[in-house]
Formats: sequence, structure tokens, C-alpha cells
Amino acid sequence: MPLASAEADPKRIAFPEGYEKTWLPYAVHNRPDNGQVRHLLANPVAVEAAKDGKPIPPGAILMMEVYKAKTDAGNQPIAGSDGLWEKGDVVFYGVMQTGPGWGEEHPAEYRNGDWNYATFSPAKTHNATMVEKPCLECHKALPEAQYVFSWDELVSKVKGVPRIDAEPVRVGLAGNVDRGKVLFQRCTNCHTTDQQARAKVGPGLFGIAGRQVASAQNYAYSGSLKALAAQPWSDERLERWLAGPRVVASDTKMVFPGFAKAQDRADVIAYLKTLK
Ligand code: HEC
Ligand code: HEC
Repeated sequence: MPLASAEADPKRIAFPEGYEKTWLPYAVHNRPDNGQVRHLLANPVAVEAAKDGKPIPPGAILMMEVYKAKTDAGNQPIAGSDGLWEKGDVVFYGVMQTGPGWGEEHPAEYRNGDWNYATFSPAKTHNATMVEKPCLECHKALPEAQYVFSWDELVSKVKGVPRIDAEPVRVGLAGNVDRGKVLFQRCTNCHTTDQQARAKVGPGLFGIAGRQVASAQNYAYSGSLKALAAQPWSDERLERWLAGPRVVASDTKMVFPGFAKAQDRADVIAYLKTLK
């Protein structure tokens, strides 16, 4: 089958009607860059795989509901007590699903195992003009997480453990800048990297490697991070921070569970070092 028609083929991924009744909601992400809030849900097949630490079998489905955040009179997103934004209208639904042999139609350079991707309109109709290649290319960066960005979050939700199950700190592990840059997608919601070091939800990260902790002029840090302000962001401190921000600064405002994998942390740190 030619790739173009396979990409636009609505029979592969159907909208999972009624999913919200039985699927596990496992993460919510604010998107300050575009005023959206994303809700992630996993079907029982994916939940079982996360529980057992097994390879994700055919039949696993992950749903990303993308909402506009509700805003107040000043057009600012309205946050609940957990800092997460209230959801307004649906913008679209993003779905990734595995099926037996589904990856075979994709070239090896960007095949994601047997995952396929689809998006659906707020009316739940399949977006037939969506091009699948960019989805595959970006998610391709995470083979050891089975191409799922939020896999660690699903595992920690299923097992009920905080993300301090991280692999021990391994300072000096060589990092891959290109892979780090892709993983950094998870940080761009909250951090800028340009030279002006503009603050978003978090402080700008230009020059962060070696910079004094909590030293951006235009940013109001949490008390526990400010308490470390006399010290620099060494490799080791960055490692600990990316493994679990709360372990470094107990009342930190950085809502990020951390990377469990030492290699993920090393790759992101290698990328952070290029921001100078
Ligand atoms: C530029 C990189 C990039 C591209 C392109 C991309 N994604 Fe993602 N995707 C992410 C990131 C980062 C997350 C983590 C969750 C978040 O951002 O809230 C994610 C999460 C997801 C999730 C939840 C499961 C997971 O992996 O965490 C689904 C489902 C998803 N994306 C579907 C899609 C679909 C469908 C497309 C193509 C239309 C797509 N993605 C394109 C980066 C990308
Ligand atoms: C949901 C928003 C959010 C995400 C996602 C996020 N951060 Fe942060 N980050 C913050 C906030 C808020 C602070 C300030 C923390 C404080 O004051 O306790 C911060 C602080 C930091 C600092 C310390 C900066 C300084 O000036 O001392 C570093 C380093 C950092 N983040 C790196 C990252 C990296 C790398 C990622 C992605 C892996 C990431 N952050 C993801 C919100 C976020």
C-alpha cells in the first residue's frame, strides 16, 4: 500500500468512543506557550504493560485530549489548587495506538515499533489530512520508553510511586545533544532558551550550566531553591534536579516529575550546555 494513502487511512485508528469511562487518566500538562492544557489517558492494555514493565503489546492506545485553558477576565488561565489549568473547549484529540504489524508501512528511519498516530476534531471525526510523519519522527527519539514521552509518568501513576525511583545519579555519563534537544521539548512549555533569558512559567535557561542557582534577575524563585543560591548548577546538581526536582528543593514550583533514566538526564544536560 502506498504510504500516502496509508497515512490518511481512517480505519487504522478509530476514535475510541466511551474511552473516558474505563481508561486511566495519568497526567495533565499545562502548555503556557499556547494556553492549552493536555490530559493524557491510557487504555487497559497500556496500563497492564506499565504495571508489569513489559513491552507494550498490540492493542495499547494512548489518548491526548487537548483543551483550551479556561481564562479569567484578564485572559489569564485559571489554575486549580494543584497549579493545573481548568479545561475549556476541546481543540483536538491526539491518539497513538499499536496494532499487529502496523509499523511495517513506515520506513525504518522513523518507524516507531508498531505505533500509528491520528488526530480527531472536537466532533471526533478523523483528521484525514493529518501527516503522520512528523508525529513518528518526534516520538522516534524515545525507543527505550517505547516511543511514549509520558511513559515514566504512566508507570509512576500505575505503581503509585513518586518519581524518586530514578536510576542513581551518574555524573559524567556522556550525553547526546540531539537527543537531549528532543527531550527538551518537555521543558519548552515553561522555559525559554534565548539569550534574553525571558521568564515563562520558569526562569530562562540561557547559560544555565554553571550559572548560580536561582540567579535570574527577572524571576521569583521558591524559597527552597533560593536557599541554594550561593552554589552553581554543576553537572551533579543538574542530574539530581532532573531526576526529581523536589529532592533538590522541597517546595519547588517546578512541576516536573523528573527523568528516571540516567541517559535521558545526561542527554538533556548535554543540550543545556549548548545554551551559551
Ligand atoms: C515536536 C515533537 C512532537 C511531535 C511532532 C508530536 N508529538 Fe506527541 N508528544 C510530544 C511530547 C513532548 C509529548 C509529551 C506530552 C505533552 O507534551 O504534554 C507528546 C505526547 C503525545 C501523546 C501522549 C503519549 C506520550 O507519548 O506521552 C500522544 C497520544 C501524542 N503525543 C500524539 C501525537 C500525534 C498524533 C502527533 C502527530 C499529529 C504527535 N504526537 C506529534 C512531542 C511530539
Ligand atoms: C511545568 C513547568 C516546568 C517544566 C515542564 C520544567 N520546568 Fe524547570 N522550572 C520551572 C519553574 C517554575 C522553576 C523555578 C523553580 C523554583 O523557583 O523552585 C524551574 C527551574 C528550573 C531550573 C533552575 C533555574 C535556575 O535559575 O536556578 C532548571 C535548571 C530547570 N528548571 C530545568 C528544566 C528542564 C531541563 C526541564 C525539562 C526537562 C524543565 N526545567 C521543565 C518550571 C518548569
